[in-house]
Amino acid sequence: MTQPGEAKTNGAKPHQDMIGGGYVRNAWYVAAWSDGIADGQLVARTIMGEPIVLYRKADGNVAAIEDRCAHRFAPLHMGKIVGGDRIQCPYHGLEFDGTGACVKNPHGAKTIPPRARVKGYPAVERHKAVWLWMGSAPADASKIPNFSVLDNVPELHTTKRDSIVIKANYQLIIDNLLDLSHTSYLHEGILGNADTVDSEITCEQDGDDVVVGRHATNSAPPGMFAQFWPNHPPRVDKFTKMRWMAPSTLRLFTGICRMGTDPETGTGYHAIHLLTPENERATHYFFTAVRWGVQTTEEKLNRDLQAKVAEMRRFAFEEQDAPVIEAQQRVIEEAAAPLDPVILAVDVGCVRYKRILGKMLQVEQR
Ligand code: FES
Ligand SMILES: [Fe+2]
Repeated sequence: MTQPGEAKTNGAKPHQDMIGGGYVRNAWYVAAWSDGIADGQLVARTIMGEPIVLYRKADGNVAAIEDRCAHRFAPLHMGKIVGGDRIQCPYHGLEFDGTGACVKNPHGAKTIPPRARVKGYPAVERHKAVWLWMGSAPADASKIPNFSVLDNVPELHTTKRDSIVIKANYQLIIDNLLDLSHTSYLHEGILGNADTVDSEITCEQDGDDVVVGRHATNSAPPGMFAQFWPNHPPRVDKFTKMRWMAPSTLRLFTGICRMGTDPETGTGYHAIHLLTPENERATHYFFTAVRWGVQTTEEKLNRDLQAKVAEMRRFAFEEQDAPVIEAQQRVIEEAAAPLDPVILAVDVGCVRYKRILGKMLQVEQR
């Protein structure tokens, strides 16, 4: 993406800036919500084009190994867990442990051929999700992005831990999430409205994180927020702060408060967006939300709001964001020549994160 006033990059591969450029591999990516991997279950997932199977070992820890048997390449997720810790291939019964090593060959002299192994992925459960390290550098659990807002909160204040697949490159989804202006159009009436268009968008860099904010004063509370606050005043301040944490997770702090007061005195939710590339053209999108400053005390009302927030957000992502992002992907892919997007004031966060991500991609490619 070129800056306003900057020259176009000649010789760049078509579309590379927007939907190409590969992945930052030496990083943690969410493969599943923790409650998405039950005991005894084999969960298949493609990440960065690599087939992976996840399961719980006898001690409860999650293991993740290549989902492609070393013998005739049968998908291991079609097999079964044996002896508590191993997957038995469905085709000829080779058994692999949680590191990907073949530990049993039931055939012939029963020796294990040296090449009989599949790739293993370091897996850590944190913040109610299963994170995989996709790179070849040593896995460092301290680099898992901070989603502690998900820890130690009442389930009633948390929405369903949900996910969808969007048929688009992960960067188009980051572009969408860091662009706070689109809520006033794509999600009008649900997450934004015309009152929020004029407010200034701020952008700051915090280490390698990019934080984009918007504070709309004297605004009618958008639908979802109005329900958090029985007897809310007719006009409020609405605020949003979206933090991007490389390579592809985002945490949003949003809500409403009395006009001119400290946002933290209001009510709203933390929204969690975890993006994991399935491949260059598809992305696993894991999401949930946690309410803060909860003012509604009645259990039934909170249960209704919990379901409503989950449904509204899924609707916004699946029915409003995804169709536009997927269409963008197609339009960009089909372009005959490199595209150079016009930059608006609302793109400030997008320009900033692409610079940081671009550097990380360059470092890995070296
Ligand atoms: S394909 Fe797995 S044992 Fe033959
Ligand atoms: Fe959106």
